[in-house]
Amino acid sequence: MIAPQNVEKTLQAPVTAIVAHDLRFYDELPRLFPHVDARSWFVGNEPLVDATAFRNGSLQGAYLILAARALGLDAGPMSGFDNEKVDREFFPDRQLRSNFLVNLGYGDRSRLHARNPRLSFEEAARVL
Ligand SMILES: Cc1cc2nc3c(=O)[nH]c(=O)nc-3n(C[C@H](O)[C@H](O)[C@H](O)COP(=O)(O)O)c2cc1C
Repeated sequence: MIAPQNVEKTLQAPVTAIVAHDLRFYDELPRLFPHVDARSWFVGNEPLVDATAFRNGSLQGAYLILAARALGLDAGPMSGFDNEKVDREFFPDRQLRSNFLVNLGYGDRSRLHARNPRLSFEEAARVL
């Protein structure tokens, strides 16, 4: 279910979060976005539901990583796993779709990798 390089750190982590999106998120819109009938934009429009849920779920996952690190925790996001198997095991009603996993805890400094190189702003962004 998990890629070989991710097994040990996941077993060691006190918590592994599954960042997943809810394909029926639009049922909450009458409460969360009450000034228009936003639910009706999504009902029956599967491509729009998938894209919107994936986009917003990815943002929430990134905020989870930032929040954990702001609290002094280490957060190790992982996409190396079998989403289909995780979904079958943890979300059997198929309403939630896993995106990525995040190991949370206090890492062993002596075993953490050094920070990877980063692209410069000029390489990563195009100013239009
Ligand atoms: C969405 C995502 C998926 C990742 N998947 C894996 C993974 O499956 N295995 C792994 O060892 N590292 C993976 N990484 C990279 C590590 O988690 C990396 O060490 C960590 O992101 C480093 O910290 P940074 O977020 O400051 O770059 C992934 C990173 C991201 C953002």
